[in-house]
Amino acid sequence: MLEVRDLRAAYGATPVLHGVSLHADATSFLGLIGRNGVGKSTTLRCIVGLMQPSGGSVLLDGQPIVGVPTHQIARRGVAFVPENRGVFPSLTVMESLTLGERPAPAQGGWTLERVLQVFPRLGERRRNRCDALSGGEQQMLAIARALLTNPRLLILDEPTEGLAPLIVEEISRVLRSLRGSGLAVVIVDQNLDTVFDVADEVAVMSRGAIVVRGPSDTLRHDQDMLNHHLGV
Ligand SMILES: Nc1ncnc2c1ncn2[C@@H]1O[C@H](COP(=O)(O)OP(=O)(O)O)[C@@H](O)[C@H]1O
Ligand SMILES: [Mg+2]
Repeated sequence: MLEVRDLRAAYGATPVLHGVSLHADATSFLGLIGRNGVGKSTTLRCIVGLMQPSGGSVLLDGQPIVGVPTHQIARRGVAFVPENRGVFPSLTVMESLTLGERPAPAQGGWTLERVLQVFPRLGERRRNRCDALSGGEQQMLAIARALLTNPRLLILDEPTEGLAPLIVEEISRVLRSLRGSGLAVVIVDQNLDTVFDVADEVAVMSRGAIVVRGPSDTLRHDQDMLNHHLGV
């Protein structure tokens, strides 16, 4: 479904991605890990059209999408939950949820009712303004909104950043529960346990390139590799 080939990107004259290649099929749960500043967010931004790469290609269902506007990439089934969560402070939870809602395709799609089952907190807070929500609730709202667009590919940048351990666990559990629901996920997170719990396969980035890729269960126990590339 998603194929990233030899992606290059720069901020001004500073190159940041030196040839990133990745692929995800329609049911992949792919994790992307690496030290701060190696280019994980830049990679995601290039995929969703928020940044123009300087080289390489991004293919969605075999079609090149570099240069396609972000909203059209979204319409083709790619939902992006950015690092800052992108919630609208002055809207209520319910207004935010209904804003991006797209009709569920036939059966088994995401509806308001279904996201409220997955995130009951959002139902309790439906009349609250988003800026009154906790960080965890804002993250749940951001994920719920993304699901309501009924994406085929859900891309999350640091969904557990700054959240309390119990909330991190809840978000991991929800993301894990999406397995087998006909959706692909790409997740970037500094919390390695979250990535290893959620993803089936993990790619490790170092200085603008993928240096290791393998099954989550194998890499999670590869202490030498984790120490070398992540310093943990
Ligand atoms: N808007 C920007 N302008 C200039 N440099 C940036 C910008 N965003 C990120 N960078 C730099 O690009 C590199 C990769 O950043 P990023 O993709 O955010 O890394 P990661 O998400 O892996 O922490 C870092 O050196 C970072 O300082
Ligand atoms: Mg980042």
